[in-house]
Amino acid sequence: MRAVLNALTEELRRLKSSGERTVMVSDEGVAALRAVVARRTRAAGAGAMETGGERLAAGDEKKVTVFSSPADSFRLPQPSVRNLEVGGVATPVTVPPSASCLPSPPIVELPTGDKATRWAALRELVLNHPVCVANVHPGKKVVLGVGSLNAQIMFIGEAPGADEEVQGEPFVGPAGQLLTKMIQGMGVKREEIYISNIMNWRPQLPVANPGGEQVGNRPPTAEELAFCLPFLRAQIEIVQPELLVALGKTATDGLLGAGRFKTLGEARGQWHEFAARPVMVTYHPSYILREPTPKKKRLIWEDLLKVMARASLPISEKQRGYFLER
Ligand code: URA
Repeated sequence: MRAVLNALTEELRRLKSSGERTVMVSDEGVAALRAVVARRTRAAGAGAMETGGERLAAGDEKKVTVFSSPADSFRLPQPSVRNLEVGGVATPVTVPPSASCLPSPPIVELPTGDKATRWAALRELVLNHPVCVANVHPGKKVVLGVGSLNAQIMFIGEAPGADEEVQGEPFVGPAGQLLTKMIQGMGVKREEIYISNIMNWRPQLPVANPGGEQVGNRPPTAEELAFCLPFLRAQIEIVQPELLVALGKTATDGLLGAGRFKTLGEARGQWHEFAARPVMVTYHPSYILREPTPKKKRLIWEDLLKVMARASLPISEKQRGYFLER
């Protein structure tokens, strides 16, 4: 264990000397560090607790101090900054929201009434939910699904990105434009479909300055996915789509359970079930954007042909042949 800690210390020193001020630590990483700290604190037999933190055995040459924030019982899920003290020098470590940050998933009670009334109530709830609001950077929006409340098909993506959190609508950026083309390729208008995400906020990363723009995206944590899932279930309950389409691995994990499939390849192109509805798993449009080859387009298109067939949408010969290399 000492060897592992030494290696970690060295790596943090290296990062620090190369100018890094912040490193991401996964929930598992924090849990592992906590376990080490707890074990070594016990072993040292010393009361090594400091204000707001736990310290490794006193006298250890390379002290690692993991500070937890003051109110561990309930904190709004902003990414928290903990100090990892290496050789007596505090290094801020930004930790994404974790199980200990988020309260239990909400219980969503929808009012009676027609679909529009129920959806409006859900929108009000989600957009003003304190946990959702606390998870968006100032000036950015919480995002609920959009589209026809009578849609036969519901597409479910991962999380809002930079464009979506500005406009407050899912899939409006480059991936969204490609999704719109895919939907049109199916012979359907975007407005006839319901489009949502498994997450209602863009998973936060630290910004350089207060009020600054977030650069890049991170995948949601399991706790974030679990927190937002009731909002997605409520949308399904309102819209009552016949079929769901999960776009990408995160949406698939969120719907079908993380750890059920190691790769998206294991799940894609097949029918699964969520909320008593068939779910087709396919690639996320951004997978195609990264490498827009006919082969990849064909893979996703074959999955969509299955959706069209199950939804009894007409399929022309031309549509059957899209992206086939000749
Ligand atoms: N990617 C997603 O998964 N969802 C969006 O809304 C935008 C990009």
